Parts: sequence; structure tokens; C-alpha cells
Amino acid sequence: MAPSTRPRPVTIVTGGSRGIGAAVAERLATDGHDLALTYRVARDEAEAVAAACRTLGARVLVIRADLTDLDDTAALVPATLAEFGRLTGLVNNAGVTMRIGDYIDIDLAEVDRMLRINVLAPISLTRAALEVMSTQRGGEGGTIVNISSGAATSGAPNTYVPYAMSKAAINAMTIGLAKEFGPQGVRVNTVSPGTTYTTIHADGGRPNAPEERAPGIPLRRAAHPHEIADAVAYFFGPGAAFTSGADLRVTGGN
Ligand SMILES: NC(=O)c1ccc[n+]([C@@H]2O[C@H](COP(=O)([O-])OP(=O)(O)OC[C@H]3O[C@@H](n4cnc5c(N)ncnc54)[C@H](OP(=O)(O)O)[C@@H]3O)[C@@H](O)[C@H]2O)c1
Repeated sequence: MAPSTRPRPVTIVTGGSRGIGAAVAERLATDGHDLALTYRVARDEAEAVAAACRTLGARVLVIRADLTDLDDTAALVPATLAEFGRLTGLVNNAGVTMRIGDYIDIDLAEVDRMLRINVLAPISLTRAALEVMSTQRGGEGGTIVNISSGAATSGAPNTYVPYAMSKAAINAMTIGLAKEFGPQGVRVNTVSPGTTYTTIHADGGRPNAPEERAPGIPLRRAAHPHEIADAVAYFFGPGAAFTSGADLRVTGGN
């Protein structure tokens, strides 16, 4: 069979150094994407993910960006265009939780930082991506997948209510942008993971959260990152060509 002459999709994955973002990167590389992967501190891990993606045939640009910094965030789309000449996909994956605890005990400085990473950065980055993708602006259209959380609808009581609020904001972004940019060739969807085996729980002070929560999950276990990546890949695939504004919950039944 002759090799395909269709240009390869070019997709930015934020937080591609670890956890869900790393699994998404490797899955999209398998599916034929070229990738711009971002990391904040885990450079060696990001380079290892990039190397794995390259062995799968992808061209990969690795970019250091602290998403609390709007200048770093603003540099991502121009850097991707400079490398690949086009941009057709974005996965807003990078995110943080908070120290797990009661609402009364929250630290507002921590909430402020979390909201910059989980909400303000995706707002800014998504706007930059849409400016390139929109067919009304001469773009070729595209696909955006926002990583939310089951917490957006559970509210995460006694755990991290402000984090749940940040993810509800992401859900609203998906719904609004799917309607605003559908006529401009861009599909926007959400994947909402349930508790997944990554280091995010240790960062929140509860490394054993997946095991602790398993009895309350109908499938009686946490997710593995590749199971979240499969859902993300679905939205980029031909089977999702008419799907926009959707929220695919990968929560083991919760
Ligand atoms: N794991 C779960 O149980 C779960 C459940 C529901 C939703 N989610 C969501 O899934 C997404 C990925 O979570 P995960 O569990 O894979 O997390 P993770 O393993 O902790 O990885 C987080 C990623 O985000 C990056 N990151 C963190 N802070 C950043 C910052 N200030 N600027 C730029 N990048 C930053 C990290 O980069 P560096 O390592 O280089 O710093 C890393 O690549 C998040 O949006 C999270 O809210 C996770």
C-alpha cells in the first residue's frame, strides 16, 4: 500500500512528562500525531516520553513551560508553529490538585496558584490555539480535548472543593467553545477521569488515595493512565467526527 500523503496531525499536550499526559502523548504518537509536549520541572521524564514517541514515528518538540506564567503559556503555540508549521490539536492536560483536606482549612494562596494552572492557563492557551485552528481565520480546523475530573460533578467534599470548582470551569469551557467554534471547524470535548494511578495524589499528601478510594468505585479500582489516554484518542479519531461538547467520564462507574 502506498504511504499516506495526508499531513500528520500536530497536537500540543500540556503536562506530557508524567502520568496521564505521558500516556496521552504515547497513544497519540501511536495514532500518527506529531507532538509538542510541555513540562514544568520533569525534564528527564519529558525527554524519555518524547524518545518513546519518536520510536513510534512521531516528530516531537519538548517545551519547558510553567503554566502559572502567562508568558510561558503564550509561547507554546508560536513555538509549535515554528517547529511544525501547523497546529491541529490541543490536550489541556497539565493540572494540579491541592493539599487534601476540609474546606475550612484551604490556603487561598494555594487556591490562587491552582486556578492559574487549571483554569487561567487553559483559557489563554486554548484562545491561542483557536486563533490558529479556526477556519474563519484561515485555519484548517482542529480538535481540543480538555482533561477535567469526576470531581467536577462530585464536588470533592472534605477533599479539595476548589479543585472540583476548577474542573467544573473546564467543563463549562468545553460546552461554550464547542458551540462557538463548531461552525469554525473545531471540535471541543472533555475527558473526565476518576481516580487514576499517578503521582498527583502524593503531591496532594495522599499517595495511597487510589487504594483508599477503590472500595467506593463501582469497578473497585482506580484507572490506569492508558485507560484515560484511550478516551482522549477516541475524540481525535474518525469515530468522533460528529462529537463535540461531550464529556466522556472514565470513572469506573462513579
Ligand atoms: N490522577 C488522577 O486521579 C486524576 C483524576 C482526575 C483528573 N485528573 C487530571 O488529569 C490531569 C493530569 O493529572 P495527572 O494525574 O497525570 O498528574 P501528574 O502525574 O501530577 O502530572 C501533572 C503534569 O502536569 C504538569 N504540571 C504540573 N504543574 C505544572 C505547572 N505549574 N506548569 C506546567 N505544567 C505543570 C507536570 O509537569 P512536571 O512534572 O514537569 O512538573 C506533569 O506533567 C490533571 O489535569 C488532573 O487534574 C487526574
